[in-house]
Amino acid sequence: VTEYYTVDKEHPDITVLERGAVVLRRGRLVAFPTETVYGLGANGLDERAVGGIYEAKGRPSDNPLILHIADKREVEKLAREIPANAAALMDAFWPGPLTLVLKRTPAVPDVVTGGLDTVAIRLPASPVARELIRLAGIPVAAPSANTSGRPSPTTAGDVLNDLDGKIEVIIDAGPCDIGVESTVIDCTTPVPTLLRPGGVTLEQLMAVLGEVEVDPGLAGRKDVVPRSPGMKYRHYAPNAPLILLEGNPGRIRENLQEKIKLALEAGQKVGAVVSQEMAGALPAGIVTAIYGSRRDPGEAAAGLYTALRHFDSHPVDIIYAEGIEEQGLGLAVMNRLRKASGYRILTV
Ligand code: TXA
Ligand code: MG
Repeated sequence: VTEYYTVDKEHPDITVLERGAVVLRRGRLVAFPTETVYGLGANGLDERAVGGIYEAKGRPSDNPLILHIADKREVEKLAREIPANAAALMDAFWPGPLTLVLKRTPAVPDVVTGGLDTVAIRLPASPVARELIRLAGIPVAAPSANTSGRPSPTTAGDVLNDLDGKIEVIIDAGPCDIGVESTVIDCTTPVPTLLRPGGVTLEQLMAVLGEVEVDPGLAGRKDVVPRSPGMKYRHYAPNAPLILLEGNPGRIRENLQEKIKLALEAGQKVGAVVSQEMAGALPAGIVTAIYGSRRDPGEAAAGLYTALRHFDSHPVDIIYAEGIEEQGLGLAVMNRLRKASGYRILTV
């Protein structure tokens, strides 16, 4: 059975975090909140413990993990080189939702990096996450705490739905503030390369770096393999096929109305993942999950995975989703929606 503890997000009970730290040091799995999504933690220096993560999630072993640290100085043990660009990013965004890919030292086990010569490192902002890692005294390997392929968990309830009984401890600190994963940026290229859009926006990265390469694999073209191994899998997907509509809101509305009407006439159960502005304009008799306002990408990010998971308990045959503008956190929202659709995208 999984031990379940509830703590305050800002002032967590230290005895709970000590329990989590002991379990991590013993090589077992602890799910914990971060400011982005819930993570599934294991001792990042213990091959067997890290192996347990892949097993619990059903995750492909060529998809490397992020090492989470509690103090900037720990980077030096894990990374061989810290280029000036990377140092500037750490100063600007750590602690926070940014993951740096750097050349690794031999201290990092192969099972963490999937055999790559690089390692992904993040210093989270969440006091619960940081204090847990600090007490454990080790780098904590942690992917999102979902079954592989499913939307990432933004509440402890989501974690339990996927992993109850498969992990030793879960720490509940309520819903995550950001709601999408950290931004992953590769600092081993001459110009840093954005591998996964996330909690730190491209605009924020540009303001610090001046220029940022964007991995062509992010565009979702079938002929380009993403450089970040995790980005090549269908991901973030609810339990039904999802079709994403992109374009101007008025055109999306007309197309949604038309498509949904046809699907209903064909006898299908229909779901919609849409903004609150769109929800009222859709035909009756469908299951609607609202991610937030399309004018507030931060709100859309925070609500996205809960909206996708709504169909776990309200099954449908097909889901139509409304795209939003790719500004700020909108870029991460659209990246996740495109992946959830398996690139079944209708540009209108
Ligand atoms: O917000 C987050 O980043 C959450 C919380 C728990 O910190 N973690 C998370 O981990 O999203 P995960 O495993 O779901 O995603 C890690 C991403 C994957 O796309 C993986 O392929 C990529 O980071 N990654 C890890 N190591 C890498 C490396 N050495 N080079 C390139 N990409 C790497
Ligand atoms: Mg994940």
